Amino acid sequence: MSDPVPGSDPLAAAALAARAQAYAPYSRFLVGAAIEASDGRVFAGCNVEYASYPLSVCAERNAIAAAVVAGVRSFRVIAIATDTSPPSPPCGACRQALREFGRDLRIVLVNPRGERVETTLAAVLPHSFGPEHLTTT
Ligand code: THU
Repeated sequence: MSDPVPGSDPLAAAALAARAQAYAPYSRFLVGAAIEASDGRVFAGCNVEYASYPLSVCAERNAIAAAVVAGVRSFRVIAIATDTSPPSPPCGACRQALREFGRDLRIVLVNPRGERVETTLAAVLPHSFGPEHLTTT
């Protein structure tokens, strides 16, 4: 997130563009996410809902999947776009999914009106469980 000018953040723009592709006919709650890898590449996802409702997948986890299938597992920051005010935070399931790939992720919440909230995964998921805990003594 090198550009501090409101509305000019490319990662936020990618999340908003992903949100425009969301398939959410049941909830009508459209979400976009764009995750920036440690090498600078950006992977986007949107929420995809299914008539069998529990199959639905959040934008954040679809963005993670897009990165993983490209061989990327190390991330710096994720932008999440909703149309709420303030912009909505990630759900608990997605916080845990993001935790899989590191504790130090930055999180930027945005909406189409240019509102922006910055936080971190550590702040929204304290005392977290991760892959390293699976090592038995
Ligand atoms: N949703 C996301 O995509 N990300 C979140 O972090 C919260 C919720 C989606 C899931 C569902 O398609 C819709 O928003 C309403 O919950």
